[in-house]
Amino acid sequence: MNITRRAVLATAVLGAFTGVFASPSALAAKPLTIGFSQVGAESEWRTANTLSIKDAAKKEGVNLKFADAQQRQENQVKAIRSFIAQRVDVIAFSPVVESGWETVLREAKDAKIPVILTDRAVNVTDQSLYVAFIGSDFVEEGRRAGRWLMERAAKTPDRTFNIVELQGTVGSAPAIDRKNGFAEVIAANPKLKITRSQTGDFTRAKGKEVMEAFLKAQGKSIDVLYAHNDDMAIGAIQAIEEAGLKPGVDILVISIDGVKGAFQAMIAGKMNVTVECSPLLGPQLMSIARDVVAGKPVPKRITTVEGVFPAEVAAKELPNRKY
Ligand code: AHR
Repeated sequence: MNITRRAVLATAVLGAFTGVFASPSALAAKPLTIGFSQVGAESEWRTANTLSIKDAAKKEGVNLKFADAQQRQENQVKAIRSFIAQRVDVIAFSPVVESGWETVLREAKDAKIPVILTDRAVNVTDQSLYVAFIGSDFVEEGRRAGRWLMERAAKTPDRTFNIVELQGTVGSAPAIDRKNGFAEVIAANPKLKITRSQTGDFTRAKGKEVMEAFLKAQGKSIDVLYAHNDDMAIGAIQAIEEAGLKPGVDILVISIDGVKGAFQAMIAGKMNVTVECSPLLGPQLMSIARDVVAGKPVPKRITTVEGVFPAEVAAKELPNRKY
């Protein structure tokens, strides 16, 4: 049989099979492989974020290589290097901290593997080290928390508010930005003073521990708790109750994320407001990754649209919450 006849026969056989099982393009297409390095499992938010990414990958038929960094930058660097060695199509990650990424991102760039940042940003001078960022505007989230307090304080103009702040992970984008955004807004009212500020590492246990220390040092003179995430706020609420005070009443509780636990705390009257930060980034990540691999232009920054939920709307909103 000559080469042409063999090719015709092969095409016919392939056609018979593909007619039954799949289209020729689907047979030829190799699934997209994404290596994803997650921060860890420090919060209710992070659990929802991981689920969103895994679910979206499954739905989209993406081969996801998932690595949990347990809140350590060195684990993320190792994971990224291993994704480079495995020649994945795209590397995505949510960086634990903002700085110290140049070397490993340059290695990815030299290997011609595009990098997409999700949730948290990096601080690099060369912006070409990543192709896109998908996530929230953390500075704006901090401002929103500050604006809520400004409005509340405007009702009692003579009153001073002593604020304690539970910061997120030291050096992380949300901790830096939420601190700055909040401070920027409350600076307009000299009656609002941050008296203590310490990291609770975005976890419930640390939030409780640090709040206990704040209460010991400052006792009843604390008027407001500003927590950089709901988990720390929920841990702190326990500490406030154990100190014989009423969270949400004796101490106003302001937080960020909008997880179901925060809505339940608001319904119980223990939290006053949560600023939304959406963890549901999986579907966008899959679609941007596909576009990047297909050589389509993608926006450098995709900012999630989010709201503010005060306690007054918590009961009505809880049934609509997806995380
Ligand atoms: O980067 C997003 C933050 O990280 C969320 O606010 C927090 O809950 C998480 O741990």
